Amino acid sequence: MLVATGFIHNYGPYALVAGGSYGLGAAFAEAIARRGVNLVIIARNENQLSATAERLSATYGVDVIAVVADMADFEDVRTQLSRLEVAVGLLVYDAAHAPIGRFEDVPEEQLAQGVSVNVRTPLLLAKMLSGPMIERGRGGIVLMSSLAGGQGSPNIAAYAATKAFNAILAEGLWKELKPRGIDVLACLAGAILTPGYQEAEGGRPAPGTLEAAVVAEQTLRALGKGPVVVPGAVNKVGRFVLTRLLSRRTAIDIMAKNTGGLS
Ligand SMILES: NC(=O)c1ccc[n+]([C@@H]2O[C@H](COP(=O)([O-])OP(=O)(O)OC[C@H]3O[C@@H](n4cnc5c(N)ncnc54)[C@H](OP(=O)(O)O)[C@@H]3O)[C@@H](O)[C@H]2O)c1
Repeated sequence: MLVATGFIHNYGPYALVAGGSYGLGAAFAEAIARRGVNLVIIARNENQLSATAERLSATYGVDVIAVVADMADFEDVRTQLSRLEVAVGLLVYDAAHAPIGRFEDVPEEQLAQGVSVNVRTPLLLAKMLSGPMIERGRGGIVLMSSLAGGQGSPNIAAYAATKAFNAILAEGLWKELKPRGIDVLACLAGAILTPGYQEAEGGRPAPGTLEAAVVAEQTLRALGKGPVVVPGAVNKVGRFVLTRLLSRRTAIDIMAKNTGGLS
């Protein structure tokens, strides 16, 4: 309870989870609701979003506001959030667009959508929400990155590059905003058992694959302790080997063995 009280003070009264209706985003929303913080959750599918909002509100007794929006459209997200008049003390940016396939086969609009959902909107949302957090002298921002963003990742090259952007953005903001009372964290996740991953992977999960609830919990516990969290022991070792021990060329070759089979 002591932990939850500190969490509410630091990151309440409302947390915004972008992509909070299912998968990892819903796991983040649930872990936050369990800590007693109210929620704004955003997703495109209204039915799924409302069902999650009702379930979390009924289970944890917190206010859960469901906002139907496409994170590709930052201007619409900003307009809808401005109407809510709630103080957001924590941003968890989970939603992502991941075009998979050979670069020559991925349509231009899919690449542009990836940049909008994974780069433009989290950047502008962090800018928009950090202003009031700075005024209050407290808050938190979690940006979802990926082990795929640690080196080039064939077959998901553009997606991996957007995840590198989030990791580097979070590290810079971590240092810059820490003295203003705001904790920023990049979550460099390995494979997570979400509907999105299962659809892309198809076969057996990769080594070190984690449940979404485990990733959400380890990430929230790491908030305020450093700029980066890598959930799971296997993934921590994997990241160390890929980014510190191996040459870039070898790291890319190894990543290609994992990401080359995604479809
Ligand atoms: N899954 C993995 O193995 C894995 C590994 C490393 C990193 N990650 C990162 O973890 C995060 C979650 O990954 P995930 O793919 O597995 O997804 P997920 O957590 O299952 O997220 C899907 C959520 O995002 C929403 N969403 C997706 N696109 C959206 C959009 N354009 N606008 C609004 N909401 C949107 C979905 O609802 P709607 O569809 O209704 O909009 C749903 O609520 C991503 O940032 C991903 O890069 C995942």
